[in-house]
Amino acid sequence: MIPNQWYPILETSEVGNGKPTGVRRMGQELVLWRDLDGNLVCQGARCPHKGANLADGRMKGNTVECPYHGFRYGPDGACKAVPAMGSEARIPGSLRVPVYPVREAHGLVWLWWGEERAEADLPGIQVAPVVAGNPKAHSTTHWTRPVHYTRYIESLLEFYHVTYVHRDHWFNYIDYLFLYGTARKLGLDGKERYLAATKIVNHKLETEGQTLRYSFDHQEEADPQNTTHYIITFTFPCQVHVQTEQFEATSWLVPVDDGHTEHILRWYEYPAFKPLLRSERLRRILPWASLYMEKWIQDVQDVRIMERQEPKISEGGVSKFIPVDELNAKYLAIRSRLIQEAAESKTAKETAADPLPAAEAPEPAGKRPAPANGRRTTKAAANGEGLAAARASRAR
Ligand code: FES
Ligand SMILES: [Fe+2]
Repeated sequence: MIPNQWYPILETSEVGNGKPTGVRRMGQELVLWRDLDGNLVCQGARCPHKGANLADGRMKGNTVECPYHGFRYGPDGACKAVPAMGSEARIPGSLRVPVYPVREAHGLVWLWWGEERAEADLPGIQVAPVVAGNPKAHSTTHWTRPVHYTRYIESLLEFYHVTYVHRDHWFNYIDYLFLYGTARKLGLDGKERYLAATKIVNHKLETEGQTLRYSFDHQEEADPQNTTHYIITFTFPCQVHVQTEQFEATSWLVPVDDGHTEHILRWYEYPAFKPLLRSERLRRILPWASLYMEKWIQDVQDVRIMERQEPKISEGGVSKFIPVDELNAKYLAIRSRLIQEAAESKTAKETAADPLPAAEAPEPAGKRPAPANGRRTTKAAANGEGLAAARASRAR
């Protein structure tokens, strides 16, 4: 996982103030809820008492209550009540859960995963203008798959697998009809054209900061008229936007853990139907249907291949790329650079904060002083707790 990035983890509409919402991301169990002012709170879901999951608990005033013995934690992570010790009890400052920075933008909840920084020092969320400023009506959903995020991202950085992987299900007829073909011969003409379009031409890659823009034509060699033009815009750490004349979609491939990835998929309205459907609600129905078609058919076809890929994690040197894999190669190179930079920044901060780390024995977990802001200290992170502790050098 690439540290020091914002990752979308859920849709904002999924976190209410009636009950806590649990989610697993970045190898961590998290709990999300809203405080009494409606502000989003994201915390480690493990209750420090005996490890129950706070997402199974309930909201109690401005706290989340553990389902096991009712300990209550406030938005700052501090334990506010231990019912078994009575209302006058002195609650140890160490009884607290880690709090993680989260923001709401573009209909999604974003988690800062990486080193602890003051709010003002956190960078902005990276969303390419084609997504942030997209005026089209859209629908969004998400699902989990048992594949590493690098493989999942790679599967969306090229489209020359489509004529092989997405050819046989009866539902792929929709592609034959709308993407490549015509309704002639009951759609079979479209199927022939689709299967024949195996060549990538006119490919061009541009890089701008954390965004890579790749355009190409997917073409039938014997009939260059049979061409679909694609633009793929990838933004680190995990956003893939795909545009053709016929459809447009954004995927976020978010690490759940080293063996699983969450696919958050947003599908935009079809331009062909816009003049016919005046209400935005209606215009979201076809994108919504497309999401489920992706979820149950196309994406399943991709996952069938990906879950048997070896090695499970992609990185520089494991593939024999061809020239049209240039976006894939660039993705891996920048990913590795970002991981390296995050590791260097972490080492520099640790050295500055603690010039003699080797001479100091780690303190026992229960004896650590409580961080004043409810977040973990650098030392706590170095001892192996929480998101920031995942060592960047080992991060995948
Ligand atoms: S495990 Fe949470 S209160 Fe006991
Ligand atoms: Fe695919």
